[in-house]
Amino acid sequence: MTESHSTRIAVVGGTGPQGRGLGYRLARAGHEVVLGSRDIQRATAAAEELSRLAVGARITGATNLAAAESAGIVLLAVPYDGHAQLVTSLVPALAGKLVVSCVNPLSFDRFGPYGRTVSAGSGAEEAAGIVASATVVGAFHHLAAPLLLDPEADLSHEDVLVCGDDVAAKEQVMALAADVTGGRGLDAGRLRLARQLEPLTAVLISVNKRYKTRSGLALTGLAPAVGKVPA
Ligand SMILES: NC(=O)c1ccc[n+]([C@@H]2O[C@H](COP(=O)([O-])OP(=O)(O)OC[C@H]3O[C@@H](n4cnc5c(N)ncnc54)[C@H](OP(=O)(O)O)[C@@H]3O)[C@@H](O)[C@H]2O)c1
Repeated sequence: MTESHSTRIAVVGGTGPQGRGLGYRLARAGHEVVLGSRDIQRATAAAEELSRLAVGARITGATNLAAAESAGIVLLAVPYDGHAQLVTSLVPALAGKLVVSCVNPLSFDRFGPYGRTVSAGSGAEEAAGIVASATVVGAFHHLAAPLLLDPEADLSHEDVLVCGDDVAAKEQVMALAADVTGGRGLDAGRLRLARQLEPLTAVLISVNKRYKTRSGLALTGLAPAVGKVPA
C-alpha cells in the first residue's frame, strides 16, 4: 500500500462489478473498504463474497449513506442513470471529502456503445456541481471490472488517467491507482477532461466486442519512471 492512505474508502454502488472490482483490489492492497448499496443485505453479501476472495482484507458492507459517512475517500461506482439523484441524497456525507468518480455516462443502440450528452459536461463534473465542498477527481474509467475481480489478472501495464482540479487530491488518487493496478496513475489534467475520458470507454467496449477481448489503456512516450510510486 502506498504511504498516504490509511483512510477508509467507501464504494458507493459497491455491489456492482466495478465497485466490487475496485473494492477488491484496494482491500487486497491493504485499504479498509466499505461497500455501499441501496440495500444493506446486498452490501453485506458483496462484502462477504470479496472477503472470501481477499482473505484477511478489511471489507464490510453498509448502506451507501453509512458507507460514505464513515469514509474519508468515497468512490462513485454507479450507473449514470440515477447518478444525480443518488449524489444529491448523499450531499451531507460527501461534503468536504475526496470523491472519486469512475462513472461513464454511456448509452447503447443498435450500432453499439456511445458517450451520452451530459449537461454538466461529464459525470464527474455533475458530482462536483452537486457537492460543491467535495474535491472530485475522475479516475478508473477504463479498467474492466472482470479483470479487477480476477485475482490472477495482471493490470500493471494499464495506465489510470486521473483528472481533477486539485493537485494534491490527484496525487492521492494516482497512488490509489498504483495500488489497484500495480502500475501507474497519470495526471491527465483538469476535471473538465472527464468529458473526454468518460466517453472514451465506449471505444474500448466497441473494441472489446469486435476483437472479443478486454482492452485497456496505456500511453506511450512517457519516461518509464513517470507515475511510478517509489518503492
Ligand atoms: N463494469 C465495468 O467494467 C466498468 C468499467 C469502468 C467504469 N465503469 C463505470 O462504473 C460504474 C458502475 O459500473 P457497474 O458495471 O458496476 O454498474 P452496475 O452494476 O450497473 O451498477 C452498480 C451498482 O449501482 C447500484 N445502482 C444501480 N442503479 C442505481 C440507481 N439508479 N441509483 C442508485 N444506485 C444504483 C446497484 O447497487 P444496489 O442495487 O446494491 O444499490 C448496482 O449494483 C458505471 O458508471 C460504469 O460506467 C464500469
